[in-house]
Amino acid sequence: MPTQEVFDKKDGAVYTTSNGAPVAEPYAAQRAGLHGPLLLQDFHHIDLLAHFDRERIPERVVHANAAGAHGYFEVTHSCADITSNKLLCSVGKKVRLTARFSTVGGESGSADTARDPRGFALKLRTEEGNWDWVFNNTPIFFIRDPAKFSHFIHTQKRDPQTHLKDADMFWDYLGQNPESIHQMMILFSDRGTPDGVHQMHGYSGHTFKWLKDDGSFTYVQVHCRADSGFKTLDGETAHRLTADNPDYSTEMLFRTIEAGKFPSWTVYIQTMTPEQAENFRYNILDLTKVWPHKEFPLRPIGRFVLDENPKNYFAEIEQAAFAPSHLVPYIEPSADPVLQSRLFSYLDTHRHRLGANYHQIPVNAPIVPVANFQRDGPMTVNNNQGNRPNYQSSIQPLTYISNKETLEAGCRNQERMARHENFIGGAYRDLGEITELDFEQPRALWQKVWNDQQREAYVKNVAGHFGGVKSPVVRDRQLSVWAAVDQDLSDRIAKAVGAKPVAPLKVKPAAEALRFRCNIGGPPGP
Ligand code: HEM
Repeated sequence: MPTQEVFDKKDGAVYTTSNGAPVAEPYAAQRAGLHGPLLLQDFHHIDLLAHFDRERIPERVVHANAAGAHGYFEVTHSCADITSNKLLCSVGKKVRLTARFSTVGGESGSADTARDPRGFALKLRTEEGNWDWVFNNTPIFFIRDPAKFSHFIHTQKRDPQTHLKDADMFWDYLGQNPESIHQMMILFSDRGTPDGVHQMHGYSGHTFKWLKDDGSFTYVQVHCRADSGFKTLDGETAHRLTADNPDYSTEMLFRTIEAGKFPSWTVYIQTMTPEQAENFRYNILDLTKVWPHKEFPLRPIGRFVLDENPKNYFAEIEQAAFAPSHLVPYIEPSADPVLQSRLFSYLDTHRHRLGANYHQIPVNAPIVPVANFQRDGPMTVNNNQGNRPNYQSSIQPLTYISNKETLEAGCRNQERMARHENFIGGAYRDLGEITELDFEQPRALWQKVWNDQQREAYVKNVAGHFGGVKSPVVRDRQLSVWAAVDQDLSDRIAKAVGAKPVAPLKVKPAAEALRFRCNIGGPPGP
């Protein structure tokens, strides 16, 4: 059978109906007589309209606006000391990947330069299945309790009545949930407006577990650092571009690759042993905290390069289905509750957005054969696993990895699973509470990491948006959150929006959270 690619050439293709019959005149509809009504028999015309009516699939509920490309990931340093994953132990091995970079809150077609985190999604096509990195361009996130996600997203999108974005709604949520302050520091710095998606870093944010055959594991966070450096736009330029070139990042990515200047990233990991995690100042399941680089230095593992533009955006980027649960052997999720929720949510949305067989769409299909007992369903477009039994047959059984190995190896697998159950105690308690610990890292940004110019840019960027808040309650509560970071920061914002200074939000002292952490394994804290 000829492949579709033979027919997809740009030039010289013969115009046909969808069943492949040549059409003499594409712009004419069949009519009864010269000026009469149209004919039902005109398959070409009816098929054209009916297909057009169905051109849109559901938009992603978040991350709808995006650009994407293909490339490769190459392993440059072995990780054999911390994982038995085949790819990560094979220095020099390259796998193809697809990347999709997105804004979060805006609809498809909204401005690329909006102040927003950027999604940073990669699908690595490994010989042991697809491994998706569904990251953001910030190392932390707004929430650490997944129950807040949909509430939070609603407030960052549109008001149910006016269908307008609403500064009160936006800041009302944030002031009520002060654990978001670290992300708000980054978002309203110039990092919130990257200069093109090909010039920004990406971070797993979440902690993962990388395992070894002997049952041991290491906690890992992944960092992808753009070799260009993280380039940003100042607030004014980003704002101007929303009108002058709303597709700024999409165009930059496409033109850069088209010109053969392939954007590249170096991939690093931060690692932590379970013992280090127990003694770490912060909870490693807390998505609002970073692991200080001094204590947990970046260790290079590989690089990736984007060297190919999509030939068809819809087929290769819009239909791409990334999921944090698409993992490969020896890579496991941690108990981070946000990550745990994401393991469910993405597959659910793919089934809604693309259908139960979304994994058969070429951009999503693994490069290795899929063999299991899933069959049929809408749009089964591969051979549906042929004549292989659709249950575990004793006559033609499928081989499981565990019964391919020796009995001894099977036991090792079980041990791996058992030890994998470990997680640090107290996680749920100190993820739920706001304490002084939550303000340490935002304060370090403001007081130590940023220079005067960056501090000034932050206040200006915040004032542009926060100035739109009408409710004094919402305004003062958020000012009290900034004051808990640093009184001067809050006062400068208050002045910029014409408000009075506000005292810091009262929170529990850090010592309380830390005291509870030391109780791990003992009776519950007070
Ligand atoms: C997209 C849910 C947190 C990164 C999405 C989508 C959903 C979703 C439903 C649309 C997927 C699609 O239609 O294909 C959630 C939930 C979260 C959460 C429930 C928390 C409870 C996060 C976090 C990150 C992240 C913490 C990054 C560390 C992304 C990215 C995309 C995305 C990169 C776009 C993927 C693509 O390009 O197709 N999320 N998300 N999300 N999310 Fe999340």
